[in-house]
Amino acid sequence: MTVQEAIKQRRAYRSLTPVEITDETLHELAHAAVLAPTCFNNQPARFVFVRDPEQLEAMKLVYSKGNAWCHAASLVIAVCAEKGDDCVIRDREYYQFDTGLQTALLILRATELGLVAHPIAGYSPKKTRAALGIPDRVAVVTLVLVGRHAGTPSPVLSKEQLASERKRPERLSFDKMAFLERWPAEPEEGG
Ligand SMILES: Cc1cc2nc3c(=O)[nH]c(=O)nc-3n(C[C@H](O)[C@H](O)[C@H](O)COP(=O)(O)O)c2cc1C
Repeated sequence: MTVQEAIKQRRAYRSLTPVEITDETLHELAHAAVLAPTCFNNQPARFVFVRDPEQLEAMKLVYSKGNAWCHAASLVIAVCAEKGDDCVIRDREYYQFDTGLQTALLILRATELGLVAHPIAGYSPKKTRAALGIPDRVAVVTLVLVGRHAGTPSPVLSKEQLASERKRPERLSFDKMAFLERWPAEPEEGG
């Protein structure tokens, strides 16, 4: 699979069926993440891989209401990072950015392995810390839900979630998100 194919194939699907998560899979995912570019090669991301059925059960308490689809995941990856592990250049704190880069590569590799890897923000960091023993000083940046894409839509999905299962949500056009040579002129205040 080419990078372009992986980028296109990756989707945040919410209809998941069980898949076996081997040690090899975990190593492949971690290896993709550790190869990402990071500030000073600091590699701030820490991944807690959760695949034990009892731990997956405990994780069911952490998801927000609209994220009941997460209960079907075979693997949950708690993506963690600490500010002090990465560059801080005046007001620029790179740990979240670098962790995002690392997670993006992990997600693309998961896609290549035929898996759905869906990041979420809808969870309680406090409950996640309690379930997984993550210290307070460590930020829980995202959870990535991993499974096999189910052939039939999950019955717990809302109308909107069902729609995005069928069709990729709209993206910004080139001219809304990319500028040539200069930031575009902004309308004068009050004008
Ligand atoms: C930081 C982040 C937080 C997200 N939080 C949620 C979430 O809580 N629940 C959910 O169902 N999807 C969540 N998503 C998935 C996005 O809704 C999805 O990526 C977006 O709609 C684009 O769809 P696509 O990835 O299939 O192209 C999140 C994605 C990111 C990157």
